[in-house]
Amino acid sequence: MGHKQGFGVDIGGSGIKGAPVDLEHGKLAKERFRVPTPQPSTPDAVAKTVREVLDHFGWDGPFGCTFPAVVQHGMVRTAANVDKSWIGTDAHELLRAATGREPLVVNDADAAGLAEVRFGAARGHKGVVLVTTLGTGIGSAIVVDGRLVPNTELGHLELDGHDAESRAAESAREREDLSWEDWAARLTRYYRHVEDLVWPDLIVAGGGVSKKAEKWLPLVQARTELVPATLLNTAGIVGAAVLAAEQLGHAGKRHHHKH
Ligand code: BGC
Repeated sequence: MGHKQGFGVDIGGSGIKGAPVDLEHGKLAKERFRVPTPQPSTPDAVAKTVREVLDHFGWDGPFGCTFPAVVQHGMVRTAANVDKSWIGTDAHELLRAATGREPLVVNDADAAGLAEVRFGAARGHKGVVLVTTLGTGIGSAIVVDGRLVPNTELGHLELDGHDAESRAAESAREREDLSWEDWAARLTRYYRHVEDLVWPDLIVAGGGVSKKAEKWLPLVQARTELVPATLLNTAGIVGAAVLAAEQLGHAGKRHHHKH
């Protein structure tokens, strides 16, 4: 018998990826399937693509789905790096109607962060774990004693009069053709600022660039222990699947926690 499976979809700016997930080990149970994100990435076009990904695997059950913006109880509230028409969209209802399955929609960094704490770089870590994803933007997740505090948006702190992600994200390094040293200096300023406000016990640095962590991470002078993410491009899918399984259960019923 195989292990209990869930399903995760990761909506990104360039690709929409999904796979069934082995919930016990936090690994993809099959090779992930990727479809380019439709342009413009309007809600209806993206929802159709999510359906394609589920159909590819013949997955009929509840599923978790990341989105690269604030997602509060299924409602998209911001859209820093996606089509602005998402703001105010009920992503939960949209994806339910478009796919015929029960979704749990979660911020991308929150999903990745939870996965790193359950199965990756911060596995079993108690206390306050901060996971940052360095990509087009900067995403953040705070997990306290294993529980996620959703929708922290620490990529949008102000740094030298700018939105921090516009200065310190991986996309800023590429756009400005920064050396690893110069980018690390910006990350040092960024993490110092975050540390002054949050005082985490451990920081995990994720995003695609964590694959090359040896080039830049040792140059970042944070106060806190700083380690690279280990789940790489599976973190979002795994975290979304885990959250969906925990919050929706088998029947796919959503337990509402509105405070
Ligand atoms: C968004 C976050 C997101 C991050 C990474 C930021 O611009 O505001 O919600 O987690 O990018 O995609």
